[in-house]
Amino acid sequence: MNDLFKSERHGCSEETPQTVLVTGGAGFIGANFILQARGAQWYNVVNLDKLTYASNLQNLTALENDSGYRFVRGDIGDPELVSHLLEQYQPDAVINFAAESHVDRSILNPLSFALTNVTGTLQLLETCRAYWQKLPLHKHERFRFLQVSTDEVYGSLGKTDLPFCENNPYEPNSPYAASKAGADHFVRAYYHTYGLPTLITNCSNNYGPRQFPEKLIPLTILNAMEGQLLPIYGDGQNIRDWLYVSDHCEALHLVLQQGKVGETYCIGGQNEQTNLMVVEKICTILDELLPSKPNFSHSSLITFVKDRPGHDRRYAIDCTKMNRELGWKPTESFDSGLLKTVQWYINHPQWVEQIRTGAYQSWIEQNYTDRTANYLSV
Ligand code: NAD
Ligand code: TYD
Repeated sequence: MNDLFKSERHGCSEETPQTVLVTGGAGFIGANFILQARGAQWYNVVNLDKLTYASNLQNLTALENDSGYRFVRGDIGDPELVSHLLEQYQPDAVINFAAESHVDRSILNPLSFALTNVTGTLQLLETCRAYWQKLPLHKHERFRFLQVSTDEVYGSLGKTDLPFCENNPYEPNSPYAASKAGADHFVRAYYHTYGLPTLITNCSNNYGPRQFPEKLIPLTILNAMEGQLLPIYGDGQNIRDWLYVSDHCEALHLVLQQGKVGETYCIGGQNEQTNLMVVEKICTILDELLPSKPNFSHSSLITFVKDRPGHDRRYAIDCTKMNRELGWKPTESFDSGLLKTVQWYINHPQWVEQIRTGAYQSWIEQNYTDRTANYLSV
């Protein structure tokens, strides 16, 4: 163990990784994972993040004086920096959250997704392989590389299809999904070719505190709070399987501790909702919490807009393997999770203010101006 974390073992068992290098930890899921990992004293954490538009270091201010946490700004695709960090902190595991993560942005700028998600992950794997090969036997055997991936790699389900499980073939439809699929294939190849002890998780849509408001749920909450239109792509009948973020983080911890090397784990919320249902539920919550802001029902702001090209119709996950092998299942109900999420955004106006920069405004204009030219309100 490196000097920085030497004094703190936090009561973890010998088998549990003591120090993890988390990449992309200033983003939505990564930050929630780090807060949970430090709160429950699962691991000491080194957070490597490039600080793209989607990141927010305010997410982690609670850890400013935490001696078991370090932040480093940098790119997963920078082998010199990453090997330096691996040598310095000697992590027992790397958890790769770092990615470009928004489908609509991937449609407008697919190359940046290939660069970060495919090439960046490949470079990270290569740097980790060099580190892992030189580790002393006991650390070499314990090392893990966990790739945090998505259900979107499996493509789109029809209404009556069975939910995705670990055996489904990859059929990505968006540039985002294709880039995550490419990364997953490299992770798999590093296990089969070099024996790097990898794990892959494919999770459904997450929601909860600290999500950048380009994604459906936080965008809807903030627009509704401000009396702005609530854009719904197409007919609003596309289905997503929503999982509260802390349930995802708990699942990742379990996979890291107990998952079988070389395997994939599907993680989902057992909670399929149409987009229209999600937006209507948020409106109902806001009608109760903020009845006078605006002084009409929030659902009257719902507006159907031009659809996303190649829009996947339905995602759903069968998490039988997570339940059977690791004893995991989601614990937060959608009603309670959504209420907590809405309350979090209401209670954090400073966080909201800080991310709503000029860059955020220009994204909103770029994505929605053309879409809403001929909109229909309900
Ligand atoms: P996010 O966009 O909120 O955060 C991504 C983070 O990665 C940001 O902090 C960003 O600065 C950082 N980053 C980007 N490129 C980097 C690079 N080259 N080097 C270092 N850091 C870099 O994403 P999220 O929603 O927190 O998702 C995290 C991971 O989980 C992603 O890999 C995503 O594909 C996956 N995932 C997300 C969801 C979801 O619903 N959000 C569901 C399943 C899987
Ligand atoms: P999103 O949060 O972008 O996640 P993903 O595309 O990874 O599933 O979108 C969730 C669903 O909501 C998806 O079907 C697209 C839809 N959506 C809208 O209807 N309006 C919007 O403004 C956004 C951002 C998404």
